[in-house]
Amino acid sequence: MLPLFSLLLAFEAQTQESGDVGCVPSPTASAHVTATDLPEVLGNLQYNILKNTKMKCKHQPQVKELSWGVDLEKNFPKSLCQFDYIMAADVVYYHPFLEELLLTFHHLCNNEDEQTVAEIMRRRFSPAVVTNRPWEGFHFAGHEIKIIEATECYGAVVWPSALVLCHFLETNAKQYSLVDKSVIEIGAGTGLVSIVATLLGAHVTATDLPEVLGNLQYNILKNTKMKCKHQPQVKELSWGVDLEKNFPKSLCQFDYIMAADVVYYHPFLEELLLTFHHLCQDNTVILWAMRFRLDTKNQFMGRFQELFDLEVISNFPSLNIALYKAMRRGKKMT
Ligand SMILES: C[S@@+](CC[C@H](N)C(=O)[O-])C[C@H]1O[C@@H](n2cnc3c(N)ncnc32)[C@H](O)[C@@H]1O
Repeated sequence: MLPLFSLLLAFEAQTQESGDVGCVPSPTASAHVTATDLPEVLGNLQYNILKNTKMKCKHQPQVKELSWGVDLEKNFPKSLCQFDYIMAADVVYYHPFLEELLLTFHHLCNNEDEQTVAEIMRRRFSPAVVTNRPWEGFHFAGHEIKIIEATECYGAVVWPSALVLCHFLETNAKQYSLVDKSVIEIGAGTGLVSIVATLLGAHVTATDLPEVLGNLQYNILKNTKMKCKHQPQVKELSWGVDLEKNFPKSLCQFDYIMAADVVYYHPFLEELLLTFHHLCQDNTVILWAMRFRLDTKNQFMGRFQELFDLEVISNFPSLNIALYKAMRRGKKMT
C-alpha cells in the first residue's frame, strides 16, 4: 500500500532560475499535501505543483505561506496539525533562521504527549466562586467529581499522577474493564482514583493513613452515593503495618491494585514494596502512576522488579509521569 500522509512541507523554495526542480509531490502517491515556503516563492511553487499534479493525483495539493517561526499558531493551529509526515529537503545551512526552523518542526510535529496531557488537564476545573472549603472539580466517567482538599499533608491534594491514572481507566475501559472487579487503592489521598474506579463499576477499597481517612471517606461518599453499582469501602492501611491482621492474604483477591504517586522520598519505600507484595496474588494487576522524583541511585525500581514484571503502558515526559502495569514475576501479562 502506498504511504498515506496528509502534509508535505516543502520548506525550501526551489526555483527554476536556480536550476532546481520544483518540490512536487509524487502524483502516484495518494497523499494530501500542503507545500509551504516564503511568500516570494509561492508563485513559482504553485505553478510547478499545479503543472505536475493536475489530473494526475488523488488529492489536489495546497500551497501555503509558512515563514519559519512566524505566526505558527495563527496559521497552523497546533490542534489542527495532524500531519503524518513533515518533509524537508536541504533546509539546514548557514541562514539566520535555524532556531525558527526548529520551532517550526516542533510546532507542526504531532506531539502525543502534549496533546494527551492537555486533554487530561482539561478534566480539572475550579469553583467559580471562592468557597470556605477549598475544592477542585474533575470530569471523569461521565460524572462531575468534587474533591475537598486539605492543606496540611501529602494526602490532602489531588496529585497529577491521579489524573493520569483516572484518564487511563476511563479511556481504556474496554481493555481494562472494571465492572464488578475488585480494586484496592493504596495511598488514596483525596480519593479521585477510587471514585473513578467505583463509577466505572468496580468494588473498591480505598486505603491510606488514619489521618487522611476522614476527608477520603467524605469525598468518596459524596461522589459515589447513588451513582455506583458497588458502594466503596474506606480502610486504614499504613504500608507494611499489620498487613496479615488487617488484610489476610487468604482474603486478598484483588483484580487490581491501584496507586498514584506513592513513590517519592519517604522513609517507607521498603514497607510500600512489602504492601504491594502482600496484596498481590497471581492474577492481580498493579496499575501504578509514578511521578519521577527519586534520584537514579535509589533502589526502589530495582527492588520492585525483583518481585514484579513491570511494563510501561503510558509515558508523559512533560509531566515526568509514567504509568506502569505490573504483575507478580513470571505471571503472564496480557
Ligand atoms: C503524594 S500523595 C498521593 C495521593 C493520591 N494517590 C493522589 O495521587 O492524589 C501520597 C499518599 O500516600 C499516603 N502515604 C504516605 N505514606 C504512607 C504510609 N506509610 N502508609 C500509607 N499511606 C501513606 C499519603 O497519605 C498520601 O495520601
